[in-house]
Amino acid sequence: MDIMKNNPIAMLAVLFLSLLFMIHICLGADTISANQSLSGDQTIVSAGGIFELGFHKPGNSSKYYICMWYKQISVDNIVWVANREKPVSDRFSSELRISNGNLVLFNESKIPIWSTNVSSTTSTSVSAVLRDDGNLVLTDGPATLPRPLWESFDNPAHIWLPGSKIGYDNRTKRNQRLISWTNSEDPAPGLFSLELETSDNSYRIRWNVSKSYWTSGSWNKNLKIFDRVPEMGTRGNFVPDFTFVTDVNETYFTYSVDNTIISRTVMDVSGQLKQQSWLGSTKEWNLFWTQPQRQCEVYAFCGAYGSCNEKSLPFCNCLRGFEPKSQSDWDLKDYSAGCRRKTKLQCGNNISIVQNGERDKFLQMSSMSLPEATQAVTTANNEECESTCLSDCSCTAYALDSNNCSIWTGDILNLKQLSEDEGTGKTLYVRLAASELRSPKKHNGAVTGVVVGVAAGSAVLLGLIVLLILRQRKKALRLGKAVVEGSLMAFDYRYLQNATQNFSEKLGGGGFGSVFKGRLPDSTVVAVKQLESMSQGEKQFRTEISTIGTIQHVNLVRLRGFCCEGRKRLLVYDYMSNGSLDSHLFQNKNSNVLDWNTRYQIALGTARGLVYLHEKCRDCIIHCDIKPENILLGDEYCPKVADFGLAKLVGRDFSRVLTTMRGTRGYLAPEWISGVAITPKADVYSFGIMLFEFVSGRRNTEPFADGRVKFFPSWAASIIIEGGDVLALLDPNLEGNADVEELTRVCRVACWCIQDDETHRPSMGQVVQILEGAIDVNLPSIPRSLEIFIEHQENIIFFTESSSRRSSQIRSNTSNASSEVKSPTPLLSSMS
Ligand SMILES: *[C@@H]1O[C@H](CO)[C@@H](O)[C@H](O)[C@H]1NC(C)=O
Ligand SMILES: *[C@@H]1O[C@H](CO)[C@@H](O)[C@H](O)[C@H]1NC(C)=O
Ligand SMILES: *[C@@H]1O[C@H](CO)[C@@H](O)[C@H](O)[C@H]1NC(C)=O
Ligand SMILES: *[C@@H]1O[C@H](CO)[C@@H](O)[C@H](O)[C@H]1NC(C)=O
Ligand SMILES: *[C@@H]1O[C@H](CO)[C@@H](O)[C@H](O)[C@H]1NC(C)=O
Ligand SMILES: *[C@@H]1O[C@H](CO)[C@@H](O)[C@H](O)[C@H]1NC(C)=O
Ligand SMILES: *[C@@H]1O[C@H](CO)[C@@H](O)[C@H](O)[C@H]1NC(C)=O
Ligand SMILES: *[C@@H]1O[C@H](CO)[C@@H](O)[C@H](O)[C@H]1NC(C)=O
Ligand SMILES: *[C@@H]1O[C@H](CO)[C@@H](O)[C@H](O)[C@H]1NC(C)=O
Repeated sequence: MDIMKNNPIAMLAVLFLSLLFMIHICLGADTISANQSLSGDQTIVSAGGIFELGFHKPGNSSKYYICMWYKQISVDNIVWVANREKPVSDRFSSELRISNGNLVLFNESKIPIWSTNVSSTTSTSVSAVLRDDGNLVLTDGPATLPRPLWESFDNPAHIWLPGSKIGYDNRTKRNQRLISWTNSEDPAPGLFSLELETSDNSYRIRWNVSKSYWTSGSWNKNLKIFDRVPEMGTRGNFVPDFTFVTDVNETYFTYSVDNTIISRTVMDVSGQLKQQSWLGSTKEWNLFWTQPQRQCEVYAFCGAYGSCNEKSLPFCNCLRGFEPKSQSDWDLKDYSAGCRRKTKLQCGNNISIVQNGERDKFLQMSSMSLPEATQAVTTANNEECESTCLSDCSCTAYALDSNNCSIWTGDILNLKQLSEDEGTGKTLYVRLAASELRSPKKHNGAVTGVVVGVAAGSAVLLGLIVLLILRQRKKALRLGKAVVEGSLMAFDYRYLQNATQNFSEKLGGGGFGSVFKGRLPDSTVVAVKQLESMSQGEKQFRTEISTIGTIQHVNLVRLRGFCCEGRKRLLVYDYMSNGSLDSHLFQNKNSNVLDWNTRYQIALGTARGLVYLHEKCRDCIIHCDIKPENILLGDEYCPKVADFGLAKLVGRDFSRVLTTMRGTRGYLAPEWISGVAITPKADVYSFGIMLFEFVSGRRNTEPFADGRVKFFPSWAASIIIEGGDVLALLDPNLEGNADVEELTRVCRVACWCIQDDETHRPSMGQVVQILEGAIDVNLPSIPRSLEIFIEHQENIIFFTESSSRRSSQIRSNTSNASSEVKSPTPLLSSMS
């Protein structure tokens, strides 16, 4: 204040600032009232500055729509569109205003093209307010007692915001569904939708209204999850509240999140339902849940005569003899229009009969996943099946399975090309005009003679050259065309190609790429990892690699070398004879059951490897992807952590990592989703989840064959806290053979590791000390995310409860278990 008194400039500045603030308030009004209208580039902004509404052009579109978007976010920010099907071209002569008690959009010629269409009142107290939750509400009545008439939450577009409802209104008999955009620039309703199926209270994703290709399963009142979405129970503090309401008036599902998190659920143009949260640090949408998980599981994604291939980019290709119906849509990644024939069929086409009477032929396509056939007949052989199809001009394809001849008429939808790891598939014969199947034109006789003569001459020469090249290559290979760089070998790509026999023997695939088995000329067996999605240049890559290369520990997989050529990035590791932990731990008839002692030693070794990464390296390395697949077993089951350092190497492109981690989200710490900084405690969480799997011998989140859900950690936590029989938790395959004290210790520490609040989790160093028995561990509290399971655990079938119920030596006072949830007891009690 003193400064201000004596400083006119400061006073002026304050005055100016307050003025700015006032102006901001005026423009930032959140309401359209009876005598106001919105036009041109005017907008309204919700009171807290979260959402903004006005005319907007999505992407490169030239048309304007009334849109609502996140004010603070500039990437892919539209959450709601009013006039999805009827855009305007001139936003300055169009206006949005209250008319006859409705919010109405008038186009350039002042004709109403969109309306809330609810009431018809001449009341002057009707107004529309944009709220901070993203709900645009039309109300009537005095400001003190507004009566809602219409809400955008009841009329969603493609995005389901927290607090908004997707369901069925029994009063209006209206199904509120999410509908995808047509393509990334056109908000008009597309083919994919999400809606409630009232007959069984499940959600379905549908194609063109009629065809359902994903279901959530029914709402489970006791567990508060959908039967086919067990991961709803394991989201940590990200999605704490789900509500499913069903009464005479309406049935709907809604969710809410902590208001520090920006989260949304999108019915995407890809036909997948995607849940995303905004990562402020990297300024991008982080995808953490999606269904269906694979693009090709989306029904008819590639349209008629398009074939979906999970391994190719783009996913869609037209069958041979077909071309995209609309190349511009295809370029916008809208494949729904599919493909059309390049050449008309002869059958039913007079012109081609006149030109040449050649009959239509069939293109053989193997390893296909086929849609439902139009018709099936029994035939003796392939020829008979083929002629059945030929005789009908509307038949477009056939397939034969033993004597079952399937016939398709009309456009063929939902074709998928399978790769080896997706099964063998069927062979489909697609009808094409004969000219499409003709092989390339042949040279005529005279020319052929000359060609043959020249060819014979050059063949000798060519042979010599090839021999020379081969010789040299062999020499190079023998010399081991690999240069030592620091402690690492720098390999030549062709050398690795050769060592892996052209990447033929795949050992597995992870979040960062595929791994192949290879043999170096000195007959050392190696594992070669082909990295995908590298965001770094060569120099950076080499720097990172040389850091990773210096890390050596008995519980970490050793990096031998790398290859960095053009855009190719490969890593060469020691080969682990016993494969990865998951193949031994989870029920597998081919492998022996890991006994308890081995499990304990593997857990301890893994923990030691992680301590080394977290605490002993020059720069702390967070693994980011701890799961049984990434724990490899060497001789005598010595565990070795694989893939460390890669999260950093591929850059903090988390969304990419998460999407490719399909199916392993059960191991992710809640902070991955809330967008806060990731610390080594994220690895501690994943390690804790894995510890429970050491105990149970099965995956934590695994639906039963009958669709019911069990979640092991919550059951284990309740047994531990209530002092129940810990042996009941043990993998039945071990038949009760385990050290009860060790078992208890593992369960307790696991429970501490998966606390929602990372500050409550122990460090990996403490975990090792506990597992070594150097320090004791207190009773844990139940992580909040597990509570919902605990409340209803009597309704969950976890395991066959018949497994041994012998000892219950560990009893403790748990009378106030619930109060412990609020204020956790300290982790460690005393040193022993
Ligand atoms: C219309 O605007 C005037 C000021 O321009 C304001 O005083 C009045 O209350 C408004 N009427 C309504 C119904 O909002
Ligand atoms: C808009 O068009 C330009 C050039 O045609 C293209 O580079 C850009 O990616 C497009 N933007 C969007 C959002 O599609
Ligand atoms: C306004 O909308 C009406 C009805 O949809 C339409 O006939 C008219 O052409 C539109 N005006 C302009 C300028 O687009
Ligand atoms: C309002 O609803 C009526 C029928 O309920 C419909 O005929 C009319 O087209 C709708 N008007 C607008 C602008 O959506
Ligand atoms: C969607 O269904 C409608 C009516 O059932 C049909 O006319 C239309 O062709 C279908 N769309 C596609 C892309 O198949
Ligand atoms: C829907 O409303 C009707 C009356 O309009 C009622 O008879 C029916 O029971 C309601 N349906 C449900 C599921 O409550
Ligand atoms: C159903 O709606 C009516 C009026 O619309 C209301 O009076 C009643 O309380 C509602 N019933 C429930 C169960 O919400
Ligand atoms: C084929 O030719 C006949 C007579 O020449 C004609 O009636 C018929 O419509 C033609 N069919 C087609 C598909 O063009
Ligand atoms: C023959 O194929 C049809 C259609 O794919 C199928 O519904 C039917 O069960 C099959 N019959 C036999 C005997 O395999």
